[in-house]
Amino acid sequence: MARKVTQDEQGPYVIDADELDSQGGTVAVCQCGLSDNKPHCDGSHQATADEDDGVVYEYADDSADGERTVVSDD
Ligand code: FES
Repeated sequence: MARKVTQDEQGPYVIDADELDSQGGTVAVCQCGLSDNKPHCDGSHQATADEDDGVVYEYADDSADGERTVVSDD
C-alpha cells in the first residue's frame, strides 16, 4: 500500500520544545499524508487500514474523507 499525496511546502516544520511540552513530551508526526493538521497526526490514517499491499491510492483533496481511487495496482 502507498498513497500519492500533494505537498506544497518547501521546507521543514520545526517542532520546538514548547510544542512537545504541550503534548506531554511526545508528538505523533503524520506519515500517511492525509492529516488535516500536518505535521501532526490527527487520526486520518485510519482511512488507510484496508488498503491492499502493492496498490497505490490517491485520496481526493488529500483528505481521508475524499474519494479514494487506485492510481496503480501491481
Ligand atoms: S499518520 Fe497520518 S494522520 Fe496519522
